Amino acid sequence: MDTNELAQIGINLTNKCSHCCPMCFVGKEKLTIKEFSFSNLKKVIDKVLEYNPKIGFIFLGGDPCEYSKISELLKYCFKKNAYTSVLSNTLDFNGSNKHDYVKYISNLSTTIHGKNSKIHDAFCGKPGAYKKVVQNLLEYQSLKNENQTIGIHFTLMKHNYKTVYKSIKNLIKLGVKINFINIQRIMPFGYATEKEVLSLKEILKAFVQIKKVNERLKVDTKTLDAFPMCIIPEQYHKYMNKCTCGTKVLKMDADGNFGRCRVTGVFDLGNIFKQDMLTILKADELKSFRTKTYLDEKCHICPKLDKCGGGCPISCGSCKLSVDMLRSNP
Ligand SMILES: C[S@@+](CC[C@H](N)C(=O)[O-])C[C@H]1O[C@@H](n2cnc3c(N)ncnc32)[C@H](O)[C@@H]1O
Ligand code: SF4
Ligand code: SF4
Ligand code: SF4
Repeated sequence: MDTNELAQIGINLTNKCSHCCPMCFVGKEKLTIKEFSFSNLKKVIDKVLEYNPKIGFIFLGGDPCEYSKISELLKYCFKKNAYTSVLSNTLDFNGSNKHDYVKYISNLSTTIHGKNSKIHDAFCGKPGAYKKVVQNLLEYQSLKNENQTIGIHFTLMKHNYKTVYKSIKNLIKLGVKINFINIQRIMPFGYATEKEVLSLKEILKAFVQIKKVNERLKVDTKTLDAFPMCIIPEQYHKYMNKCTCGTKVLKMDADGNFGRCRVTGVFDLGNIFKQDMLTILKADELKSFRTKTYLDEKCHICPKLDKCGGGCPISCGSCKLSVDMLRSNP
């Protein structure tokens, strides 16, 4: 197993979020507020960078900008020369002056849930959310240097899969210069049930949109979550990525526990304060994920295995590694 592959760790800084997206684990019921203590967090950053100084951090939540020490954290990482990405739906950095922290953020990303403010705000239950997030993106854009990037996350769902193109076009019209778009796939986790999961027919319509965004808007748009390549027409394969959660990327919760997939609330790979990084990286689940022992014969003899990875290994909703449900139940 190649334990040197790990390039990024996503850290859930807090469960706080002022939005109520209905599919999200944070959503309807507010979870107990959990936050890393800042002194622990600095130890975590140090431990990770001791293991490999090139590892970058993606700050997540809840909303990472609602973490009380977000500015101090970004500054700390900057001093350590670490790559930092923030994925937030507000981009409101806890009352700080943007001029103070912009230089510390390598990438700023946000999730857009629809083609305009009406749809986005209704979905996340926060009037004015779209306007505010666009304003904050534009502000970052005006202050950042050319090496800093802006990313958009788009989770394909029943209400928005037909409007990926219009959603991105609208952001561009508003002046946002987007470096990349990560397309996610709604999974039966958090408050999302199997009823909300997209059918193959709907996914194929979404790929028409993804192609259009790449070709007409010239924005690099690829799937962050994996799909089985054998059920998606070849013309779309260039917009697809295999799942890297468990190889290049891992995530952690607010107590320092590691998990593999960034969408689930499962953190069972070990704790950074109790085990060293190498032990965590050798966890059985990661071994199985890397060697693909959970996949069937069809995948093992498939010439596309290396590019496809077998699709999403937890699409069945049980958090147990398995063949992608779309193959057996499209
Ligand atoms: C949990 S949020 C945290 C960061 C930030 N609050 C945001 O919304 O961008 C990270 C991403 O998870 C996605 N997400 C939430 N619930 C999901 C689900 N059940 N399936 C797939 N993606 C989901 C959201 O759309 C968002 O892009
Ligand atoms: S998806 Fe993000 S913004 Fe929406 S409720 Fe979840 S954490 Fe909050
Ligand atoms: S396991 Fe599935 S949901 Fe989790 S990151 Fe990979 S593709 Fe996405
Ligand atoms: S690796 Fe498996 S899921 Fe992927 S294209 Fe081949 S058979 Fe399909």
